[in-house]
Amino acid sequence: MNKTISGFSKLTKSEKIDWLTTTYFTNSQSAKDILKQYWNSDKKLQQLHDEFIENTLTNYYLPLGIAPNFLINDKVYAIPMAIEESSVVAAASKAAKFWFDRGGFKTTVIATEKIGQVHFMFKGESSKLEQFFKTLKPKLIESAKPLTKNMEKRGGGILDIQLKNKTRLLNNYYQLHATFETLDAMGANFINSCLEDFAKTLKEEAFDHNLFSSEEKDIQVIMSILSNYVPNCLVRAEVSCKVQELSEKKTTNAEEFAHKFVQAVNIAEVEPYRAVTHNKGIMNGIDAVVLATGNDFRAVEAGVHAYASKNGQYSSLTHAKVENGIFTFWMEIPLALGTVGGLTKLHPLVKWALELLGEPTAKELMQIVAVAGLAQNFAALRSLTTTGIQEGHMKMHLMNILNQFEATHEEKVTLIEHFKTHTVTHSSVVEEIEKLRQ
Ligand code: MEV
Repeated sequence: MNKTISGFSKLTKSEKIDWLTTTYFTNSQSAKDILKQYWNSDKKLQQLHDEFIENTLTNYYLPLGIAPNFLINDKVYAIPMAIEESSVVAAASKAAKFWFDRGGFKTTVIATEKIGQVHFMFKGESSKLEQFFKTLKPKLIESAKPLTKNMEKRGGGILDIQLKNKTRLLNNYYQLHATFETLDAMGANFINSCLEDFAKTLKEEAFDHNLFSSEEKDIQVIMSILSNYVPNCLVRAEVSCKVQELSEKKTTNAEEFAHKFVQAVNIAEVEPYRAVTHNKGIMNGIDAVVLATGNDFRAVEAGVHAYASKNGQYSSLTHAKVENGIFTFWMEIPLALGTVGGLTKLHPLVKWALELLGEPTAKELMQIVAVAGLAQNFAALRSLTTTGIQEGHMKMHLMNILNQFEATHEEKVTLIEHFKTHTVTHSSVVEEIEKLRQ
């Protein structure tokens, strides 16, 4: 059977579903029913979602959960998290509560600079290009004015443009390396439009430049694109308290807990295998808030992991120390986020999430997101260095196992009660379900 098609995008939604389900599924009716089950009965809302992307067939749900009781710079937040992994929201909530009683999270935005580059090839003398760039730079800024004037009115715009000689890495390779302030917008469209305009001006001006040879006039622009590596769009989040104040149910011996916690962070600083998992836990918190607030989690992921390797080896994003009896745990992380533009005014749940957070500026959102990451890492390390991760995780995962076995409400109530005092493993849950059903 031919499983390829041309003109798929031109079919209507139901034609797409018909073709796909009859071509790829043994039971096409049930495949269709599953897709339709997720359609929204509100036609306008469904159309909105259909139009976010191309070839939409249905909606893919993720749960939206809330981690309340976050105290950030003395202000209380309930943080929205969109994530499929059980125990992440519970862990964030627990960490929030823990630090609420110990002064909360302190955050600062260190910088908000975004980056974009025009990558081009110039065959000629670099000194001539450098000379040319001096007169080019004001023209680049001037020609982009129609694009930048609104952003400038609000206090943002192009910060600088530099010519970078990369010929030691690749023959004839140069860049226009531009920095931007995009205020409350993530700024991808703004930056990319400016860069494409720079590229056009660069080519035109080079072509008209009298001191260039014909080969030098013929600059080849390879591409113009923002960078998702934003080491100067940086936020810091921190918690600290006296070591003795760390003690609670899980951590009766505060000194020992602080010591093991700091060592766990030290291990992630020196050991990449551990650092990746350690940082993955941080991203559990970060991605969930980034997604709930309609931001681009792939951009954030890429930038954050690059930052984790900034010293030449992949390392922990968080740091911890005990000094003069004070435990301090902190993180500096690059986050390019927006609270205007993109999905922020389009997706009803994103609007809802931003209202829940008090309509934050991009800077405020950077701080909230960083806190979610730090809290997540604190919760993970606290479990790992005390009871182990499985106890809490399996408790949260219990519901997934029960649902997998289509447990009734009564069965769930009985088994949740049972597993309050018994260890949850996949087989122990199956055993108990079977016992109940006998
Ligand atoms: C699981 O999603 C995240 C953890 O593995 C993070 C960590 O090990 O620090 C628990």
